Amino acid sequence: MILITGGAGYIGSHTLIDLAEITTEELLSVDNFENSSAATFDRIAAICKKKVDNTEIDLTDLQKTTEVFQKNKITAIIHFAAHKAVGDSVEQPLKYYHNNIQSLVNLLQCCEEFKVNNFIFSSSCTVYGQPEVLPVDESSPILPAESPYGNTKQIGEEIIKDFCTANPSFNAIALRYFNPVGAHISGLNGELPTGVPSNLVPFITQTGIGIRAQLTVFGADYNTRDGSCVRDYIHVSDIAHAHTLALNRVQNNDNKEQFEVFNLGSGNGTTVLEAIKAFEKVSGVALNYKIGPRRGGDIEQVYSDSTKAKDELGWETKFNLDEMMSSAWKWELQLKAEREKI
Ligand code: UD1
Repeated sequence: MILITGGAGYIGSHTLIDLAEITTEELLSVDNFENSSAATFDRIAAICKKKVDNTEIDLTDLQKTTEVFQKNKITAIIHFAAHKAVGDSVEQPLKYYHNNIQSLVNLLQCCEEFKVNNFIFSSSCTVYGQPEVLPVDESSPILPAESPYGNTKQIGEEIIKDFCTANPSFNAIALRYFNPVGAHISGLNGELPTGVPSNLVPFITQTGIGIRAQLTVFGADYNTRDGSCVRDYIHVSDIAHAHTLALNRVQNNDNKEQFEVFNLGSGNGTTVLEAIKAFEKVSGVALNYKIGPRRGGDIEQVYSDSTKAKDELGWETKFNLDEMMSSAWKWELQLKAEREKI
């Protein structure tokens, strides 16, 4: 059985869909719905005709986490469950250190006790900060984290690396996501931001649908081709599939090192204004936006060299920027239709 922590979350749920379509192994999610909804499992079932079970516990509770391993024969873990809002983490650092680190430590403790040797970890391109050389590959230096959230990803990788040293049979892969966006191509599952989204694409679609009055482009005076920041947007289903491939790699002992890291990005840098144009093109909606001041803490540009994931995992991205935007828009329309039904 494969344990997916945070299975109701944005990337977790898309990974469950990807896995459910490919693997015959049993899947179990652990999610306490702190930042997600149980209804996501109905969405997953509607898409892949498979019901995924969820155990609702807090992974910082070692006793309850241990019980999950006692009750189920878990052979591999994909660990998504974490707090992920950068701004929130600056305001409440202890919440982030407690949740993100304690849950990881508890899971690894269970790996040791129950001899689970396959582990996939959600990491982030935030570990690179503003790289000196672009595109950024896995050999780029890790810079001091700019937020407690980012630090939990760096520390998380270090903890796993140390755990590997102490446990020679343990295999782990950390996947460093660039900017995951979009929704399942059916439009039936996507991101469920709570409150005002801080990420660009949900803010774009919510503005397009009228939930937000106007989008502010955070700075158009950067040293980029149109002055707005450059990021590497990557479709969430492409990100999801990389987890399936990474899982196969450790399960088949194809990994070259006990602890491996892979960048997951499209390799294309897209500016904020280009993202807006792509949205307008696929949705037919003229977006109400203005150019505003820079957002504190933003880096100018980052995009990935994902050659390693292509060569080693056999990972190919399927979706381009237009498809990222059209699926995100389809999902926003789906949410609107659901609101109107109630
Ligand atoms: C943020 C996080 C990163 C996390 C990623 C994905 C920071 C510093 N980093 O990255 O750790 O992994 O989200 O969840 O927060 N933008 C606007 N207007 C908006 C919103 C965003 O112009 O209303 C711009 C931003 O300035 C940025 C780009 O859009 O240039 C993307 O922003 P966002 O989606 O927040 O992602 P990141 O900042 O790249």
